[in-house]
Amino acid sequence: MKIGIINVTGYTGVELARLLHQHPEVELSSVTGRSTAGQKLGEVFPHLADIHLTIEAELGKVELAFSAMPHKDSAQEVIPLINKGIRVVDISADFRLKDASEYQRWYGFSHPSPQLLKEAVYGLPELHRAQVASARLVANPGCYPTSAILALAPAVKAKLIGADIIIDSKSGISGSGRSLNLGSHYAEANEDTSAYALEGHRHLPEIAQELMGLNPQPPSITFVPHLVPMTRGILSTCYAPLAKKIGEKELKKLYSDFYKDEPFVRVTDAPPHTKHTWGSNICLVYPTIDPRTGRLIVISVIDNLLKGAAGQAIQNMNIMLGLPETTGLEALAIYP
Ligand SMILES: NC(=O)c1ccc[n+]([C@@H]2O[C@H](COP(=O)([O-])OP(=O)(O)OC[C@H]3O[C@@H](n4cnc5c(N)ncnc54)[C@H](OP(=O)(O)O)[C@@H]3O)[C@@H](O)[C@H]2O)c1
Repeated sequence: MKIGIINVTGYTGVELARLLHQHPEVELSSVTGRSTAGQKLGEVFPHLADIHLTIEAELGKVELAFSAMPHKDSAQEVIPLINKGIRVVDISADFRLKDASEYQRWYGFSHPSPQLLKEAVYGLPELHRAQVASARLVANPGCYPTSAILALAPAVKAKLIGADIIIDSKSGISGSGRSLNLGSHYAEANEDTSAYALEGHRHLPEIAQELMGLNPQPPSITFVPHLVPMTRGILSTCYAPLAKKIGEKELKKLYSDFYKDEPFVRVTDAPPHTKHTWGSNICLVYPTIDPRTGRLIVISVIDNLLKGAAGQAIQNMNIMLGLPETTGLEALAIYP
């Protein structure tokens, strides 16, 4: 099975290349880039020198492709591929929202294919595994939404929490991509922590869409992302008043039962660290109850480039190809 990557030069593209090279069942046969077209992959990324591919301007003949393009431009690459019968996992946001009008509001462009938007499957396997298996187009979830939805899904589905939800997320700098911007310069980001997008982050509609799929009552969500001085990782702390009484043991059981067959979600007995997931496709989830206020607190951690992007994309590819879901994704986290 020949696999391609559109835009191998971004952080998610380069991570896809590393993971696909190690994958025993597929062959990475074509990678594209814009400014780097014509150069050997190993010249641009020395750690990938064992992958003997030249970066192309156009994708070669493949059976399944990943798009790791920025939003808006990704759709332009994905639509012709789908029309040619090539299955796609899109890492950008271009096919995640079901309502086409949301793209104008949150991303500032009119969606070029509302029809394909309806057909695309939101690629969070823990919620949509069966649909992913037969999809032509999988919209890989955003990194913050992956951490937030996995933290909240069991409680929302059980109607344990109501409309009022707070998601406080911290992300490493690679979450904002490889393109240069002032905020990611060392002197700006090192020894600094800041909140951003308080007026509404683009990942908010995606989180709301998926939580409403579990409980149709429209949730009122406050989502505040923060940038912290680390390369990889997301930690989300989610808070919500409990709509019904539940004890710690019962809460732990609810979460453990919800994720009991999931290879990449683990319910922990202590608050997890981002470092516990560094380089692995695991999401660690820790639910508890604040004994003073009775409020639910759930902490989740992921590596934004693995379960938050390239790892989850390969998990989706495995499901689409009928392979064991963990193939090529068994690596444990790197520590320290
Ligand atoms: N970073 C994450 O943690 C993460 C997580 C989940 C999803 N995503 C999504 O994944 C996609 C890729 O993100 P990323 O972080 O990997 O990107 P990135 O590191 O910011 O990649 C940007 C690279 O893409 C190339 N590029 C920029 N605009 C382009 C265009 N119009 N056509 C072709 N190449 C272009 C640039 O290379 P040249 O200038 O050299 O061509 C640049 O190096 C985005 O849609 C992002 O939202 C990212």
